[in-house]
Amino acid sequence: MQQITDEIVQEIRTKFPTVERSADGERIFFDNGAGSLVLQSAIDAEALARTKSAPNRGGVYRESKVNEEMILEGRRAIADLLNAPNPYSIVQGDSASDLFFKLAYGLSAKFEDSDNVVSTNLEHYANVTPYLDLQKRGKLKEVRLAKLRMDDGRLDVNDLESLVDNHTKVVAIGASSNLLGTITPMKEIARIAHRVGAYVVVDAVHHVPQGPIDVQDLDCDFLVFSGYKFFGPHGSYMYVKEQVFPEIQTFHVDPNASGKVMPSSFELGTRDPAKFAAIKAVIEYLLWVYSRVNDDRDSTDLGEERTKVLKESMSLIESYGRELTSSMLFGPHEERGLCDLSNLKIYGITDETHLSERDCTFTFKVKNKSDSEVVEKLWTDYRIAARAGHFWNNAQELYDIPSAVRVTLLHYNTKSEISKFLRAMAEITR
Ligand SMILES: Cc1ncc(COP(=O)(O)O)c(C=O)c1O
Repeated sequence: MQQITDEIVQEIRTKFPTVERSADGERIFFDNGAGSLVLQSAIDAEALARTKSAPNRGGVYRESKVNEEMILEGRRAIADLLNAPNPYSIVQGDSASDLFFKLAYGLSAKFEDSDNVVSTNLEHYANVTPYLDLQKRGKLKEVRLAKLRMDDGRLDVNDLESLVDNHTKVVAIGASSNLLGTITPMKEIARIAHRVGAYVVVDAVHHVPQGPIDVQDLDCDFLVFSGYKFFGPHGSYMYVKEQVFPEIQTFHVDPNASGKVMPSSFELGTRDPAKFAAIKAVIEYLLWVYSRVNDDRDSTDLGEERTKVLKESMSLIESYGRELTSSMLFGPHEERGLCDLSNLKIYGITDETHLSERDCTFTFKVKNKSDSEVVEKLWTDYRIAARAGHFWNNAQELYDIPSAVRVTLLHYNTKSEISKFLRAMAEITR
């Protein structure tokens, strides 16, 4: 079976300049949920773009044409990654929060004060707050949050279904939770939403570096992710289903504002071609991962095959992520896993039979130790970067944990790093 082996991970690590050490020296990076490490090729592509391309499009000279090409190629690469039908269905923003707000306000022209939005208790606030804001302004009646199964943090889809009615205009849903790692059954939820004609807005910020996403298969209307969680620089991207675009009220600087053109009508101001060059480099790296696992099969000029190969690459990354998840929960070697440590309570799925329903994110609390004490100790005594505090997630209220410790691993992390972390945690929880 083709897979990302330990040897390939070592090669992958050479592509991330800060994977072993930051400017402060050697360390283990487990704070990927707050932002991933950046690929050297993305850094290089961004730098090169700043000298190769003019800052603006529309000029007759070559650099200005290069600007346009870079932006289009970046959109095309993202469209291939997500299986979006064409590059013009990809919109760029400053951050995911920026796009979620613009989208909610763009959709609100169609809302009536008897309408509702359905979301869940698994969400990052970014995809919920815009609708709460609209509710406060009297543009919506309510925002309804679907329940979780409290024992393992999986979504109660029946509850979500019971909340959706003929007044539901949007179902706002995360592809996976940035707190518990739970993956949501997006396809099933999209079916429920579309039955009543509601839009499906997917927050893929946490999930995009961890597994494949196919917007046509999911049949979502909008899907958003951020570049800084996906091995590149900041900036965010949104897939917009072509058929729904005319229904959004857009805000666009144009004296001739009747001309609604996708995607530029949704983008305020001039785009930065270097960001597009960087995200394209990230996606090319994923083609390399596939080719490396498949005996260096040529992955240039794939044409129509590019989407399929990218999906396979992300599936390889997902499978490796599951190995890391299992190691983290149950121990990679002789170390005890997080599930076996006394004085530690972990939230989310820990049942081995449901590991395919979670990403590689672990949130926990240690008995008789504050969360900040735990992460301080991890950092100062063991040089492991983790994070404590609030993660802007609805589930924290539900579990009554305004603060917790969170570690998130990505495919450049190793089982040997997990061993070191688990040994550290065994000492800290003793
Ligand atoms: C799941 C999720 N959604 C949305 C966001 C917000 O992303 P941005 O910082 O790009 O606005 C985050 C950031 O942590 C996140 O984890």
